Amino acid sequence: MSPPKVVLAYSGGLDTSVAIPWLKEHKGLDVVAVTVDVGQPVDLERVRTKAKASGAVAAHVADARREFADEFLAPALRANALYEGVYPLSTALARPLIGRHLVEVAHREGAAAVAHGCTGKGNDQVRFDLSTTSLAPELEVIAPAREWGMSREQEIDYARAHQVPVEATAASPYSTDENLWGRSVECGVLEDPDVEPPEAAYGWTVAPAEAPDSPTYVRLVFEKGLPVSMDGRPLPFHELIARLNQLAGSHGVGRIDHVESRVVGIKSREVYECPAAVVLIRAHQALEGLVLPRDVLEFKRTVEQRYAQLIYDGLWFSPLRTSLEAFVQVTQERVSGEVTMKLFKGSATIAGRRSPHSLYQPSLATYSTGDRFRQEMSEGFIYVWGLPARTWAAQTPSTASAPPRTAKYRP
Ligand code: ARG
Repeated sequence: MSPPKVVLAYSGGLDTSVAIPWLKEHKGLDVVAVTVDVGQPVDLERVRTKAKASGAVAAHVADARREFADEFLAPALRANALYEGVYPLSTALARPLIGRHLVEVAHREGAAAVAHGCTGKGNDQVRFDLSTTSLAPELEVIAPAREWGMSREQEIDYARAHQVPVEATAASPYSTDENLWGRSVECGVLEDPDVEPPEAAYGWTVAPAEAPDSPTYVRLVFEKGLPVSMDGRPLPFHELIARLNQLAGSHGVGRIDHVESRVVGIKSREVYECPAAVVLIRAHQALEGLVLPRDVLEFKRTVEQRYAQLIYDGLWFSPLRTSLEAFVQVTQERVSGEVTMKLFKGSATIAGRRSPHSLYQPSLATYSTGDRFRQEMSEGFIYVWGLPARTWAAQTPSTASAPPRTAKYRP
């Protein structure tokens, strides 16, 4: 009888490579490595080879870029999901997808456990654990890095002693994570939130000061809340994102410096580069502003905040997330039209927007000839609208009705 199996989320880095012999040695488990392509720029064949070389009994690689865009990024964009108002949740959105792949492979391989390389201090452990538990409560989740207590140097020694290939490349001072929706950077000097991120921390964006001296305009056509073409060229969502990352990144757009409140209670300083996400969310919001009534916009904003927090907190596969998704989905029925964005020296601004469902009526908005708004009706409206204010004021010994406390009146 061969040993029981564990399905490991494998990135090809040092932690997850060391995890392979560690799971064998300490848990008696054979490791099936799973690497999910969510748009990170790595050579997946090399990753597969390295998994095998590190002792995995099998190594699966899944191209999930389309699935990631259509099933995770699309709902996030429709919800304008920004954690604490700034972070487009790039890393957070990939975790439930990877979790789902782990569960699928675990079922296929008859494994009793899944594993990941997250430490016990971050959000990603929460997201992996909760996604897999929500989808397959019977599976055990093992996080070797939460248990082994090894420093980086000890990990390298452990790797050498267990025939795990150790790359000779100079270790970067930063810890990064990348996918279609963005790149996150932590560690090194970034751990001081009062130090400006050095240029070397950035990988996807040019410094705004070095960006081209003339702007680029990009025209995005949306259908029901999602972009379907860029500058007249129809593109599948995942390809549009990849192209927009290039274009906006070349103008220095999408840099985010965030002191973030982690699920486990720690404040951490995170630097992100999310060119496409920033442009698309801004464009989407602009279109919504044109086609959605005020009360829907306002209510949606509270839903969006909660939605973003659920993603951050690892609750993608939860009844509340699904329910909020239903609300968001209905609001997108008329979010179709065209938005032109101007990319220039680190900024992405709205240059224009139009829609067949536009609620903007020139004859009501204009201050020129052709005004159809009946201004005389406003007086009656304001009389009734202001009634509660007047009633309240009449009952309140108000400072407003007292003589102004200017120097003249002071004793
Ligand atoms: N703080 C971000 C988040 O929680 C980024 C985490 C980056 N993860 C990583 N394994 N490097 O979403």
